[in-house]
Amino acid sequence: MSKWYKEAIGYQIYPRSFNDSNNDGIGDLVGIIEKLDYLLDLGITMIWLGPIYKSPMDDNGYDVSDYYSIAPEYGTIDDCKNLINEAHKRGIKVVMDLVLNHTSDEHPWFIESRKSLDNEYRDYYIWAKGKNINGIEKEPTNWASFFGGSAWKKDEITKEYFMKIFSDKMPDLNWKSKAMKKDMFKMVEFWCDLGVDGYRVDAVAHLDRAEFIDSVGEEKYVQDWSKISNLPKVFDYLEEINNEVLNNYDMFSVGEVGGGANLDSVLDYVAYENNRLDMVFTFDHNWRNNGFDSCIDEFIQEVDLLSLKNDFARFQTGLYNKSWHALYWLNHDHPRVMSQYGNIEHHNLSGKMLATVLYFMWGTPLIYNGEEIGMTNGDFSDISEVRDISSINNYNEVIKTHTVKQAMTNIRISARDNSRTPMQWNSSMNGGFSESEPWIRVNENHKWLNVEHQLNDSNSILNFYKNIIRIRKSEYKEIILYGEFELTYKENKRKNILIKLKTHLFLPKDTI
Ligand code: GLC
Ligand code: CA
Repeated sequence: MSKWYKEAIGYQIYPRSFNDSNNDGIGDLVGIIEKLDYLLDLGITMIWLGPIYKSPMDDNGYDVSDYYSIAPEYGTIDDCKNLINEAHKRGIKVVMDLVLNHTSDEHPWFIESRKSLDNEYRDYYIWAKGKNINGIEKEPTNWASFFGGSAWKKDEITKEYFMKIFSDKMPDLNWKSKAMKKDMFKMVEFWCDLGVDGYRVDAVAHLDRAEFIDSVGEEKYVQDWSKISNLPKVFDYLEEINNEVLNNYDMFSVGEVGGGANLDSVLDYVAYENNRLDMVFTFDHNWRNNGFDSCIDEFIQEVDLLSLKNDFARFQTGLYNKSWHALYWLNHDHPRVMSQYGNIEHHNLSGKMLATVLYFMWGTPLIYNGEEIGMTNGDFSDISEVRDISSINNYNEVIKTHTVKQAMTNIRISARDNSRTPMQWNSSMNGGFSESEPWIRVNENHKWLNVEHQLNDSNSILNFYKNIIRIRKSEYKEIILYGEFELTYKENKRKNILIKLKTHLFLPKDTI
């Protein structure tokens, strides 16, 4: 297998927010094609597309209702073929999001599965009976879901519960089912045949679950991710996918393992000899200055610089020569890194500082759309402007015990929508993203913070990114991409190196 991905310069596109070609307010595939030359000019050689499959969009496409067709608002399968073609013409590889942990509840498999206990699709999903505690029926376990509430939902038709570790409309697939796996492998093969070059495997850590035993904890639903994360069978499933499909292609795979995966567990996923994944996204560094949609008590927390440095160092040192690693500051599930570690008064320098810190390490960069111009968190002023189901759920919890103002501050610091506002192409209406009202509001700062402006300024963050990318491809490639990492100033907490800067610098003055 060739190792092209090691020298790739990756770029994550959030399709809904990248570029709207037909002015319906929603980004689309033709819109992405229109911007391929921009990406080429930046030096990008690989794009990762967030999910573009047909979906009721409860979770912006991660709730797939048909893996074989494109969401109509994004385009058609022909648009997708065109996109792959046009990208390849420019030497850009295309990586698709692969959602294996769950489907939408509107997927035909689930529609069948819920019909009866003996339906042939029943075991495609994870069903269990409720518990009877002193005559009161309870969920099969007290496990929490990532998006709030229980990890189970009762289905009235058969009176059993299905597992759903994300939203109520995203039932979890049962990887113990041979028939389900076979259907999945067929689908994975379909996209390989269509010409995609790799997969970003969504929520991969969760494909195996512990026995259904309650977790210890005071809360009604206990956030015990150990019951659903990095368990042994995950690794077997990944080997199977490779043996059945991916090894027959020159494919690359990066898995989302999230937070809390230690070095050994990451090595289980990515060590060269294991034939499982080429690299993973860990979340530890993303969590250093905010909670995941739940940082209400922590929003004045300072950057923990030592831990942040250690998060990077742990993998840079521990994976060296044993595997490969993804270099990324943020993705669509995290606030903008400029708002976490940057300073709006020193916007230009902050953006350059962030790029310098990360992109001289070894690994494959994955730049998140807008990061290359230093986009900031959204400027939401009311919950009605927020679209993400997990943030809305969280907000509704928070206002039970906090003021609306505090709950909104929490949103503006930690909500996933902060990184999902439309790409800021120029200073015109809606930042040049669309001529109609976008599905989520464009940040007002597009008037000065936009691609066009930075293209014309040789000292901009955007041009700095171009330079770093050029250097990574130059004669310094050997040392930057393959050289060993050494953390200097290990104990140095000096705030003026990576700045203590609190996130509120990006909020209007009266927010906190
Ligand atoms: C991953 C995705 C996230 C999604 C979740 C459920 O974490 O990145 O956006 O909500 O999986 O698919
Ligand atoms: Ca559109």
